[in-house]
Amino acid sequence: MPTYVTTPIYYVNAMPHLGHAYTTIVTDAYSRFRRFCGDDVRFQTGTDEHGEKIADAAAKAGETPREYVDRIAATFRDIWPVLTIEPDYIIRTTDADHVQTVQDILQQVHDRGDIYFSEYSGLYCKGCERFLTEKELVEGKCPDHQVEPKAITEQNYFFRMSKYQDWLIDHIKTNPEFITPERYRNEVLSFLSEPLEDLCISRPTSRLTWGIPLPFDQNFVTYVWFDALINYLTGIGYPNGPDFEKYWAGAEHVIAKDILKPHAIYWPTMLKAMELEPYKRLHVHGYWNVDATKMSKSIGNVVRPRELVETYGVDTVRYFVLREMSFGLDASFSSDAILARHNADLANDLGNLFSRSLTMIDKYAEGRVPEREASSMLAPDDRELMSAVTAMVAQYREQMDGFRFHKALQAVWEVIGLLNRYIVTNAPWELAKNPRQVDRLRTVLSLLAESLWKIALVLGPIMPTTAAKMATALGMHARLATATIEDVREWGEIAVGSVISKGTQLFPRVDKKAEPAPAAGTRKKSPKEPEPAAGEGLITFDQFKDVELRVAEIVAAEKVAKSERLLKLTVRAPEERTIVAGIALHYAPEDLLGKRVVIVANLKPAKLMGIPSQGMVLAAKEQRADGSEKLVIVTTAGDIAPGSRVA
Ligand code: MSP
Repeated sequence: MPTYVTTPIYYVNAMPHLGHAYTTIVTDAYSRFRRFCGDDVRFQTGTDEHGEKIADAAAKAGETPREYVDRIAATFRDIWPVLTIEPDYIIRTTDADHVQTVQDILQQVHDRGDIYFSEYSGLYCKGCERFLTEKELVEGKCPDHQVEPKAITEQNYFFRMSKYQDWLIDHIKTNPEFITPERYRNEVLSFLSEPLEDLCISRPTSRLTWGIPLPFDQNFVTYVWFDALINYLTGIGYPNGPDFEKYWAGAEHVIAKDILKPHAIYWPTMLKAMELEPYKRLHVHGYWNVDATKMSKSIGNVVRPRELVETYGVDTVRYFVLREMSFGLDASFSSDAILARHNADLANDLGNLFSRSLTMIDKYAEGRVPEREASSMLAPDDRELMSAVTAMVAQYREQMDGFRFHKALQAVWEVIGLLNRYIVTNAPWELAKNPRQVDRLRTVLSLLAESLWKIALVLGPIMPTTAAKMATALGMHARLATATIEDVREWGEIAVGSVISKGTQLFPRVDKKAEPAPAAGTRKKSPKEPEPAAGEGLITFDQFKDVELRVAEIVAAEKVAKSERLLKLTVRAPEERTIVAGIALHYAPEDLLGKRVVIVANLKPAKLMGIPSQGMVLAAKEQRADGSEKLVIVTTAGDIAPGSRVA
C-alpha cells in the first residue's frame, strides 16, 4: 500500500536541534518500517521560509531574506545524512512550484466563496505566527513563547473555517485513529466544543512582504500557515501529478504538540474546502527537555544532533530518542541517560550477545551457520525461544504501527535478554566437549544465528547502520535490502553454511567524558622550561603551544542584557560552550550564526555580566584615522570541522 509520511517543515530562524532531529528520526524510522512491511513509501521533510519572524531574522543578519533562508535551509538539509535520515523529497516553501500551488489553491477557495474580506482585531504572537484567543494565554502571555501577544486591528482576508466545524467534529469522532495519541484527540475535541472562529489568512504588504502574494489582491501576502500546510500537497505534485493520486490517501503527518491546532483544525478544514479527503493520521509527540528544563537558546542548553553523533555514534542517537521517549509524552535528555543506554542496552546487551554468538559459531562450527536438527528433535528451550521471537515480531509490528517505538524496542530487548539466558543454559562450550552432543550444539548455534538475523531485520528501521553490520557479519548482507517482515516470521530463513565473520564490535563502550583540560592559568610550568629574557618580546614555541586555539562554529548568539558591547555566543568546538565576546557594536547576533571562528579554548573561565565565559573569540582590530575602531572576527579561509586545532 502507498504510504506518505511527513515531518513539519521547520522554520529557518533556528539551527537544527534535538527536537527537529527527533521528529525527523521518527519519520525516517517509520518510513523504513513501512517499507519493511512491503509498502511503497514516500517520506518528505522541508523548511518553512516565509513570514514575519524569518524576515526579521534576515534583516538582523544583514542579509536579504533569500540569502538568509538559503543559508539556514542548507544546515537542515546537511544534518539529515549525519543522522542516516533519507527523505525522498525535501521541500522549501520558497520553491517556485510551491508558490504556484498555494496561489492556485487560494484562488480556488476564493472562487468557491470560502475566502472573504473583513476587519479583525486580535492578539498576534509572532513566535506562533498566529492570532491567539484569550483562553490560550497564561497570565496574559503566549505559553510557548513567554511574550505578550500584540493587539492588532487590520483589514484582512478570512477563510470560512467555522463552516466546517461540525463536519470536523464528526470526522474526528468517527475516525478514532485520525489524531493520536488519544490525549491530543481529546484536546482537539474539547477545543472544538466552543464555536470556531474564521481564520485570518492574509497580511497586508505594508506590514510584511516576505510571503506569497494573494492572487486576487496584490496588496496582501498569504498567512504563513496557509502557505506552510500546503507543502504536504505540493511535494507530491498536487493537483495533477501521478504521485498525488498515488500517495494522498495514505498521508500521515508527524508533529509535536506545539503545532497541533494548525494541523488538527486548520488543515483538515482547508482540505475540506478544497474538496479533498483529509489526511489519514496525525501523530503528535511531546517535547524534549534537557535535564528536566525547557531546551532554549537563552538558557544555553540546546542539544545539537551533530555533536551527539560525534560522541556516541548515529545509531545510539537514533536508538536513544526512540527508546527514551514515550511517543506523546515529554521526555528529558541528559548525557547520563544516553550514556547509560549506550553502555547497557547497546554495548552490553546487544553488542556482547552478538560478538559472543559469532565467536562461538566461529569456534564450534568452523565459522558457518550450521544446520539445525529436525523440528521433532527440538528441546523445550528451543521452542520457547522460537515462539518468543515470533511473538516479538507480532508485538513489534503492532507497536511500530501505533507509533509506540519504545514498546517495540522493549519487545526486542526482551528477546535479547532471553537469548543471553539461552546461551547460559545451553552452554555451547560444554556441548562442544562431548562429541555425542554435536547435533545439539549445531541446533543451539543455528537458532542463535537465526534469532540474531531476525533481530537485525527488525532493528533495521531504527538502526540501519547496525543492522547492516549485523547482516554482513552473519553473511546475509545481500538479503538485507529485500527482506520483509514476513521473512522474520518464518524459521529456516538464514542460509545454512552462510559464512560469518567474528570480531564485529557493534557498540564500543563510551566512557564518561574526561574532565575538560585544566585552564592555562592553572597549569604548572615544568621547571626546565626556559623563561624568555625580559623585554625581549619573544616567546618560545613551547609557550605558544600552551595556547590552545581551535576552530569553533557559532550555533547561537544573543545580546547580553544591559550591555552595549557584549554578545553571548554558544559555540561548538566540538563540545558546546558559552563565550561572552565584546563584539556587539560590530556584529548583530544573527550575522554570526553558522560562522566558523577561532577561539582560545583553554582560557581560564571567567564571569562577564554574571555569565560564565569559557574561552575567547579572536578578532582583529583596526584603528581608524578618526580614532574609531573596526573589529573583524578571525575566521578560517576554507571549510574545516569545528574543534580543529589552529597552530
Ligand atoms: N514551520 C512550522 C511548521 C509548519 S508544518 C506545515 C514550525 N516550525 S518549527 O521549526 O518551529 O518546528 C516545530 C517542530 O519541531 C515541532 O512540531 C517538532 O516536530 C520539532 N520540535 C521543535 N522543538 C522540539 C522539542 N523541544 N521537542 C520535540 N520536538 C520539537 O512550527
